[in-house]
Amino acid sequence: MTTSATSGAGLDESVHTVSLMVNGRLRSATVPARRLLSDFLRHDLGLTGTHVGCEHGVCGCCTVLVNGGAVRACLLLAVGVDGMEVTTIEGLAAADGGLHPVQQAFHDHHGLQCGFCTAGMVMSACDFLATNPDPTREEVRVGISGNLCRCTGYQNIVDAVEAAAVAVRESGMDPRARCPRSEAGDAGVGARARAGLGATPNVSGTSGRGPHGQGGPAHHDGAAGEDTAADVTAGDDSGDAGADEGGADDGGADDGGADDGGLGDDGGEDGAGR
Ligand code: FES
Ligand code: FES
Repeated sequence: MTTSATSGAGLDESVHTVSLMVNGRLRSATVPARRLLSDFLRHDLGLTGTHVGCEHGVCGCCTVLVNGGAVRACLLLAVGVDGMEVTTIEGLAAADGGLHPVQQAFHDHHGLQCGFCTAGMVMSACDFLATNPDPTREEVRVGISGNLCRCTGYQNIVDAVEAAAVAVRESGMDPRARCPRSEAGDAGVGARARAGLGATPNVSGTSGRGPHGQGGPAHHDGAAGEDTAADVTAGDDSGDAGADEGGADDGGADDGGADDGGLGDDGGEDGAGR
C-alpha cells in the first residue's frame, strides 16, 4: 500500500506498508520509501540486536540474512525487501533460550570484547558455514573478513567460527535457521572440547573485505506468507540469550551490559549510538 504523508521536515513523501517474514513471524509497518532495512528492523520492529556502525556498507555490524543470504541491512531499503524472509540475531536462539551453536561458540571462545560487532559477525558466520561447513582456518578468515571488529578480537572470533563449524556439522542443522533446541547449542561445547579448540592460537587477524555480508540479498525467491512459525513462541520476547525481539538491545555476550548484540541477555540500554 502506498500513501502520501508529510515528513518531520515538512516534506511530502510517499509511505509504504512493508511486510516481511522476520524470524518466522509476519511483521508489517508503514514507513517512508527511504527507510533503510536496518532502521526498519531497529526502529519500526524493535529488533535492536541488529547494530548500526558505519551506515554505508563498510563495517558489517548490520548484517542480517535476507532469504538466507547475508546482507548489509544499511544498504537496503525496507521497501526493496518487501515480502522477503529476514533473519536477525534475535532469530537464532532456540525458543527455550538455548544458544545457537554459533552463538555458543562465540561465548565459549570469548569471540568478542565490547560486543558491538558480534551480531553481524554471528550472522555472517551462519551464512558462511551454510556454504562452507568444513572450512580451513584461512577460509574462516576470508569468510568473516567483511565484518570489522573495532576491538580487534579476530583470533578468538576465528576460533569461535572454527568451533561453530564442528558444532553445526555435528548437530546437522542449517546454521541459518533458529536453533531447534538447547541441545544443539550445547553441542558446540562438546564439539569444541573434542576438537581441541580451547586454546587460542597465535594467528593474525584480518580486517579486509570478504565475500560475505556484502551488498544485496543473495536470494530473492522467498515471499512473505502467513505466519508459519508455530515454533516461534513467547520465547522471542523472553529477553534471554538473544531471543528477545523487542528488548532494549541485544547483541553481545554479557548479561545486563549497556549493549548486547549477539549472545547474551538483554536488559541493558540501547548501545547502538556508540
Ligand atoms: S552499519 Fe556498517 S555496514 Fe551497515
Ligand atoms: S567491535 Fe568487535 S568486539 Fe568490539
